[in-house]
Amino acid sequence: ETAEKGGYETFMLKEIHEQADAVAETVADRTARGDGVDLGDLGTIDDAFLRELRRIVVVACGTSYHAGLIGRYAIEGWARVPVEMDIASEYRYRDPVVGPGDLVIGISQSGETADTLAAMRLARARGATVLAITNVMGSQATRDADGVLFTRAGLEIGVAATKTFVSQVAAMYLFALRLAELRGTLEPARLSELVGELKRLPHLIAEMLDGDDEAIKAVAERHHQAEFFLYLGRHIGLPVALEGALKLKEISYIATDAYAAGEMKHGPIALLDEATPVVCVATESPVLDKVVSNMQEVRVRGAHVIAVASDGDEEIGEHADELLRVPRTDWMLAPLLAVIPLQLLAYHVARLRGLNVDQPRNLAKTVTVE
Ligand code: G6P
Repeated sequence: ETAEKGGYETFMLKEIHEQADAVAETVADRTARGDGVDLGDLGTIDDAFLRELRRIVVVACGTSYHAGLIGRYAIEGWARVPVEMDIASEYRYRDPVVGPGDLVIGISQSGETADTLAAMRLARARGATVLAITNVMGSQATRDADGVLFTRAGLEIGVAATKTFVSQVAAMYLFALRLAELRGTLEPARLSELVGELKRLPHLIAEMLDGDDEAIKAVAERHHQAEFFLYLGRHIGLPVALEGALKLKEISYIATDAYAAGEMKHGPIALLDEATPVVCVATESPVLDKVVSNMQEVRVRGAHVIAVASDGDEEIGEHADELLRVPRTDWMLAPLLAVIPLQLLAYHVARLRGLNVDQPRNLAKTVTVE
C-alpha cells in the first residue's frame, strides 16, 4: 500500500498532487485546436442539438454538485443558455418539468450514485436528452445517458473527492466553451483566449503544488482546534466555499457552514465570535469589492478572516488575518485553482487532529443506495 501511495503519506495527499495531470488529461486533446473545443463523440448529442437546446438542468450529489454549480456560471456566462441546478435526490421527488429540447447533465465521478442515476433516468423518460460526465468507463451512468463526456482523473481512492472534482470542473468549462463556440456567443478572440487559459491551468496547478504549503500549514496549526468554520463566497467563489466547507467537514469532523457572502447578515453572522475562523474566497472577480465588504463585516465582529486571494492583489491583505494565495487566471476559471488551498487546509487540519483522511467515518466513496 505504501508503494501505491507513491511516497505520499495518504492517498488523499497523493491525489491532491495528481490534480495538474487530471486537468491536463481532461483538457489536452480537446483543446488541441487552440481556437475552440472538440468534445469528440457525444453519442446521439450532436452539434445541431447543442445549437438548439433551450435549457440545461444539472443533477448531481456531493462534490459533483459543486462542480455543476461552477459549470452553471460558465455556461450561462459564455454560452447564454439558462442552467438549473438540482441535488439529484431532490430532483426526482419534485415531479420536475423537463422534456424534449432540454439537456440534463448528470455529473458523477463514479457513475454509480443511485440518486444521480435515478434523476437521469427520470429526465430521459420524460424526453430530455441526457449527458453523463463521469470518470469511470463502463459505469452505469454511461449506459443511462445519450452521450458521455469523460473526465480523465484516473482512479481516486480517497473518499473525499479531490482530483476528480477539478477534472469535473475542467469538463464543465470545456462543455461551456464548446456550446459558446457552436452558438456564436463569444467573440472568436475571446474564445481562443479562454481556451488558451484553460490549457494553462495544469501548469498553474503544478506551480502551486510544487511550491511550499507553509502558509496553509500555519493556518491549519492555528485553527485545528476550532469547533466551527464559516466559509463565504460570492458568484464563482460560492461553490468554492461550499466545496471547501464540505472537505473540512468530511475529513476533520469540524462543523462548517458555507454561505453566499451577501446572505451572511441574514443568519450566520449571529454565529461569529472571536474564535471563529471565516474562510473567504476573495479571488479577483467583478464582485471582489462586495466580498471585501463582507470580510470587513466579519472582522468588525472580531472573527478571524482567512482569505483565498489572487497573486498580486496587494490590497486584500489589509482585510484579512491570513492569506492563501493562488495564481492569477481568468476570473471565471479561478475556482479550479482556489479550491486547492482549501483541500489542503482541510487535509492539514484533519491530520493535526490525528484522523484517517482516506477513510473518514460514516462516509462511502460511492453511495449506491437511495
Ligand atoms: C459520496 C462521496 C463524495 C461524492 C458523492 C457523489 O458522497 O463520498 O465524495 O462527491 O458521493 O459521488 P459521485 O460518484 O456521484 O460523484
